Amino acid sequence: MPKTPKRILSKLEQLLTRSYSPYSGFAVAAVIKSRSGRLYGGVNVENAAYPLSRCAEQSATLQMISAGEREVVEVWIMSRGEQPATPCGGCRQVLSEFAQPDTPVHCLSTDGAELHTTLGELLPHAFSRQYLEK
Ligand code: THU
Repeated sequence: MPKTPKRILSKLEQLLTRSYSPYSGFAVAAVIKSRSGRLYGGVNVENAAYPLSRCAEQSATLQMISAGEREVVEVWIMSRGEQPATPCGGCRQVLSEFAQPDTPVHCLSTDGAELHTTLGELLPHAFSRQYLEK
């Protein structure tokens, strides 16, 4: 089991406190490492118009793209409780736009449970831009 670097853990823990999730009460934090080695964080941001809520992984991806980077090399996700939350289907697709099937995805819970997987395991047979090429 890979040991989560301390700086990633503390970033996730800090981000978790910033989640805006008054409707679900379920806070999620995500940290993306980009090709340059920089870290981009995001949290879930909910809205009174529920479908407009944004997942943590997507928030982190938007941060990375807005900073001018295009490649995700590693992802960490943290949620509270016993079971580490895995990225929802939409987040798997959003991440796959900028990551590879072997990109590691680490799902951590505040109780210490961990699931270490890859994007390809989470989203086999992903739809990608290759299908749009004529
Ligand atoms: N959520 C995420 O932020 N990431 C996921 O991959 C799963 C779900 C958020 C969305 C919503 O704000 C809350 O968790 C409950 O679904």
